[in-house]
Formats: sequence, C-alpha cells, structure tokens
Amino acid sequence: MALNNGNTGNTYISISSLRNSEKPNPNIEKILYVETYGCQMNFADTEIVNGIMNKYGYSITNKIDDSNVILLNTCSIREHAESKIYQRLSELKRYKISNKYLKIGVIGCMAERLKRDLLHKHKLVDLIVGPDEYKKIPFLLENIDETGEKGIAVRLSRVETYDDIMPLRKEGISAWLSVMRGCDKFCSFCVVPYTRGRERSRALDNVVAEVNQLWNEGFKEVTLLGQNVNSYRSGEFDFADLLKACAEAVPDIRIRFITSHPQELSLKLLETIGSYNNLCKYIHLPVQSGSDRILELMKRSYTVEHYLNLIEQARKIIPDVSFSTDIISGFPTETEEDHKMTLEIMKEVKYDGAYMFKYSPREKTKAFELKDDIDDEIKSRRLMEIVELQRNISYELNLQMIGKEYEIIIESESKKSSEMLTGRTDGNKSVIIPKNGTHIGSKVLVKINKANSATLFGELIHKTN
Ligand code: 5AD
Ligand code: SF4
Repeated sequence: MALNNGNTGNTYISISSLRNSEKPNPNIEKILYVETYGCQMNFADTEIVNGIMNKYGYSITNKIDDSNVILLNTCSIREHAESKIYQRLSELKRYKISNKYLKIGVIGCMAERLKRDLLHKHKLVDLIVGPDEYKKIPFLLENIDETGEKGIAVRLSRVETYDDIMPLRKEGISAWLSVMRGCDKFCSFCVVPYTRGRERSRALDNVVAEVNQLWNEGFKEVTLLGQNVNSYRSGEFDFADLLKACAEAVPDIRIRFITSHPQELSLKLLETIGSYNNLCKYIHLPVQSGSDRILELMKRSYTVEHYLNLIEQARKIIPDVSFSTDIISGFPTETEEDHKMTLEIMKEVKYDGAYMFKYSPREKTKAFELKDDIDDEIKSRRLMEIVELQRNISYELNLQMIGKEYEIIIESESKKSSEMLTGRTDGNKSVIIPKNGTHIGSKVLVKINKANSATLFGELIHKTN
C-alpha cells in the first residue's frame, strides 16, 4: 500500500510501540464524524478534511454515534482551548469501549504542537495529524486497519494550500474559503506560526473559480480567510487584486474577509473595498493593546499612532466602514496605565465588535520567556472592564442605527422564534425581523426599530433580489 500521498513527498510516521491490539473488521463501513474547535480557519479546514475523506469513500455524519472514525480538529491558541480537548477525549472513552472498531484522531494545531506526546498522554488516540498533512488521513487510517499501528503526520509544508481539494460544505447561505495558510508575523504571544507554519497563498484564479462555484451552489456570502490576508500573494497579485477579481467575477455574492494585520493594510486595499458594492465595508483589525510599550513587547510592529492613522484613513476612503478587533488583557508586565490605554483606544475607535481574551502563555513563543506576572484575578478584572466597555460601545453604536435602513442577507430562522428570521448587515451586525413571507437566502432592505448591545430588531421594507 502506498503511504506516500505523492504531493509533498513526505511519508507518514508510524509508532509501532503504540500498537492497537484489536484487528479491525475490514468490511466495516467508513463513516466519519469531525468535531471542530477554534477559529474559522479550522471550520474551513474541516470542510477540506471532509472533502478529502469523501473522495476516499468515507461518508460524513453529524451523529457521533453513527461514526467509526472520530476526528477532533483542535486549537492551541490558549491553554483553555487545549484543556477543552483533553476533557473531550476523556468523554470519548465510552465510545471506544462500546465500539471496538472506532478510531479517534486529533488533527489541527494541537496535533502539530504536541505531536507524539498526545499519543502517550491519551492512549485512546489512534491518529495525530497536523494542518499540512490532511491528505494523509485516509492512508494513515488504512494503515491502522492493516497493521494496527497508530499514525502520526505532523510535518509543516511550505507549499501545501489544498488548492486541489474541493471542500465538502453543508448547504447554506454563508461559506468560508481559505485563501492562504500559515503566518510569518511571529507576534510574541502567538503559537500559530509554529502550529500552522509559513505563509503561502492559493492561486488567484482558483479562488475566483471557487467563489463562482459557491454562487452557483446557492451561497450568498463568502468569507475569505487567512491568518493575515494582507500578506496574500499569487504571482504579481496581492490581496486587493484578489478582492477585486472576486468582486467583479461574482457581483451579486457578498464578500467578507478576515483577518487583517495593521502593519500591511494598504491604501490600495482600502480603495478596493470602497469601490465595490459587494465587498463588505467591515475590517477585522486586531489592535491587541493600546499601549506602545506592550505592542513592542508583543512584536506587533506598529504603534498606537500608526493604528489610529490607519483607522482615520480607512474612514476617509470608506465613510461607512466598521471595525472589529482582538484584545489581550494581562500581557506580561502590563500595568494599570497600559490597561487604561487599551480602554482609551477602544473608546477612540469605537469598535463594532471585539474578541477579548486573557493572556495565556504558550510554549515556544517569545513571550513565554517573559514571566507571566499578572495575577489571574487582575487579568480577569481587566478583561471584565474591557468586555463591559465594549458592550457599552456596541450598544451606543446599535442605538444610532435605529430608524435607519440597511440591506441584510437572511441566514436562518431566529433561535428564539420560528416566526422570526435573522440576517446580517454588511457591517456584520445581526438583525432579527418578522418572517412576513421572506425566505432564507433573500437579500432584503430592513428598517431598524430596536436594539440591544448584541442584536438589532427590524422590519422588512422590501426585497432587493
Ligand atoms: N493568549 C491570549 N490570546 C491570544 N491570542 C493569540 N495568542 C494568544 C495568547 N497566547 C488572541 C489574539 C489573536 C486572536 C486570534 O487570539 O488576540 O488576535
Ligand atoms: Fe498570531 Fe500574530 Fe500571526 Fe495573528 S498575525 S496569527 S496573532 S502571529
């Protein structure tokens, strides 16, 4: 059996000392269940894994009890993300006991970070596969069947983009599409460059073709994903060129993108966003901290002044642009003064949304060498203040939307009532409206009547498509 997938030239590594004693039943149906944790990139990766596995005869289920292969697609960004996986693995023991043919794999960032340690720590794990080796999963599983040897494939690649894999998506309104992988920024707190490797981009033409295909399949919105989309490069083309190409190729699909690093948000990119109706006027631009001293320690390569200038420039070029951000509280040495500066920048920018975290030291990163010297209680209190401030800002911005009209794409029934539908604005705000004959997937103009800090409530004005 060929264990080399022929693409990267890497062969799998098997660990014969960790053999499964049970010989699997060769006639058993191949049914895969994947559970996904972490960022949108991981959700997009799960669709890639499902695409690969489907090609090799696996059917995909969303019912864990029906499956005979369980994969956990994991995240390593903070310690808490990893403890959740350990907890989940303990819960999975009972499935292993009730189904002796069941195989359990850990894939994604945690597989890459912990490698074979995971096999030693968790005896029930049969398979460890890092983010650049997903094409090997079917072969590794086959090898477990044949030899009983556990499988591990964790090499990072400089070229793998899965450009040749068609992700297996569920039908829907909004799709994820990875346009690049990896990160070369090496922010001092972040494990991603170690778990996802070097930056590499998919070919522009292939991305455009996939956006076209998504539209033909009935998707109304696509989010282009990358750890830092501003570094996208395909030959002579940059991310602004990619956005332009997608926007022109499929003028009716709504296009979002995440994430942008403040160091490389170019004028050209801002002008492109401002020039096309189907490009969302929404930029996720993580600031992380409002203190230059902390930004320097974080190796973010910009100052507060540079960041605020960017925001000002973006608002000039795209008058109705909205911003969201990521913020970390309690980075090593952060003083009350530094923390207050973070609150200040939040007030100044008035983000539409924020993802807010307590600093979590990660092995291998530069910041890991610094003492994690902020008490957990202080980190939590600062985080609470950040969350509270953001809630007030979101509320204030949402109140300003009352009485105004916005176009939304209806995505689903509201969770709270089957009489209501929920959709999102160009600026990524959720709006709930009464059904009134409107359908999921429609683009509609709504008037906002009511708001809280998280949601807007509106009424239908008319359909726009
Ligand atoms: N601790 C806390 N938050 C982190 N992030 C990345 N690494 C860490 C860490 N070690 C946050 C950053 C990043 C987001 C994806 O996760 O804010 O932008
Ligand atoms: Fe991590 Fe920084 Fe890369 Fe974002 S830009 S993935 S925070 S290293």
